[in-house]
Amino acid sequence: MYAIEKDAHAWYNLEKYRGKVWLKAMEEQKDLRFCFNHMMREMIGPQGIAEREIEAMADEIGRAARSMDVRRGEMAWRDLPYSQGEAVKEIQSVADRARERFDAFVLLGIGGSALGPLAVHTALEPARYNEIEASRRGGPRVYIEDNIDPERMKALLDAIDIRRTLFYAVSKSGATSETMAQTMIVIQLLREVFPEGIGERVVIATGAEKGNLNAIAKREGCKTFVIPEGVGGRFSELSPVGLLPAAVAGIDVRALLNGAARMDARCSEPDVWKNPAYLGAVLQVLYMKKGRNISVMMPYVDALKYFADWYAQLWAESLGKRCDRDGRTVFCGQTPVKALGVTDQHSQLQLYTEGPDDKVVTFIGAEEYRANVYIPNAYPDITGISFLGGHTLKDLIHAEQFSTEYALCKAGRPSQTVWLPEVSADSIGQLIAYYEVQTAFAGELLNIDAFDQPGVEEGKDATYAMLGKPGYEEKKAELDARRPRQPRYIL
Ligand code: PA5
Repeated sequence: MYAIEKDAHAWYNLEKYRGKVWLKAMEEQKDLRFCFNHMMREMIGPQGIAEREIEAMADEIGRAARSMDVRRGEMAWRDLPYSQGEAVKEIQSVADRARERFDAFVLLGIGGSALGPLAVHTALEPARYNEIEASRRGGPRVYIEDNIDPERMKALLDAIDIRRTLFYAVSKSGATSETMAQTMIVIQLLREVFPEGIGERVVIATGAEKGNLNAIAKREGCKTFVIPEGVGGRFSELSPVGLLPAAVAGIDVRALLNGAARMDARCSEPDVWKNPAYLGAVLQVLYMKKGRNISVMMPYVDALKYFADWYAQLWAESLGKRCDRDGRTVFCGQTPVKALGVTDQHSQLQLYTEGPDDKVVTFIGAEEYRANVYIPNAYPDITGISFLGGHTLKDLIHAEQFSTEYALCKAGRPSQTVWLPEVSADSIGQLIAYYEVQTAFAGELLNIDAFDQPGVEEGKDATYAMLGKPGYEEKKAELDARRPRQPRYIL
């Protein structure tokens, strides 16, 4: 028996990762499974949710479900799985050109403009994608630059040859300082090398309104994708924001959209017991109201580590609100925490089982992994380890996931599990659509606007004021008038 199955070992089957080879599970278009058992009182004891608590929310749930329908027009992100047909053709043609002509593809963006692309890329490409030999990779190396640490920018510029790099500047507002600064740095460098033809090396995604990125696109002749109205940054992964980087890496974007469309249909069902996003939101909101202020996402799949980052932004920025829609102060929200199974069993699990009882844990599991590794029975005579021999790493990781669920259950602490048949473009599309609807529905239950981010805007405005952006003089005066730091508190 090979320690690692031969076909999985020889090379990664990249087509399989990218959703282009339809595995058996995919042929059946297997749906995600959601297990809410360990959220319920009958499973974990008095701290759990009783079914009658859900029944008692029937009116609220009905109101929120109707609101989802009434506001559907404002939630253009829900149409993305169905509306991107034409855009996909254009995206594919830009991606094909990028795959032929460029060695590197660099996304410049932050927050919702970067976390989705990062989550999808890391889920659907092998861990060491950029290190794979170019001929096998089939497309450029991909860098998603969602920070402005100067050391990071320097490291990027050291790693790429800008003459052979396609840049993708993404900003819905076309104003965010981080993305604008990155874009100006890159364009100036390109100007030095290519006095003409910058437009062929910079693609832009931005809102339809005027905006700075539209002005740059016009001046430099850049290809521009529109982020539609009603698609906020953190809900934009299935728009050109996320589809172009995915297509450039060779991911099947149609499979991603198909999975999302199926999940969107599943999550349009008004009956909470048939709609996993609604039931998930109801349980989470019930727990929030009982003081569970922390939502832990713990994938037992390395490839989903950055999916937890995407979720963290979606959940935090959408639900973390001072006021509800009626102007009442509610200080609502739940703090997302990212963990990785099994790694964090040996780091955070102790806290989850015995520390403050303020968390709801979500596991994400994969029924199948894209590689199969056997544990050899290398020491049959050492009984302390020989039991492992003959199992696979999948057996071990599944056993550990169940054991963590069990440990939490035994401590009376809630958890839920989302099962992917396997990580694929289809299942990731489903997962994205699921969490987007769950977040929006939680917003309706909480009667808050899940689509604005006044706290983020405050920080952006303060930055503009500090760096002298015209129109922010009043904000600057406000900042200057703040209480000065006391030297005695600085050591
Ligand atoms: O979800 C959001 O709206 C934010 O996180 C934005 O994506 C982030 O602030 C970046 O904004 P923009 O895309 O306008 O540059």
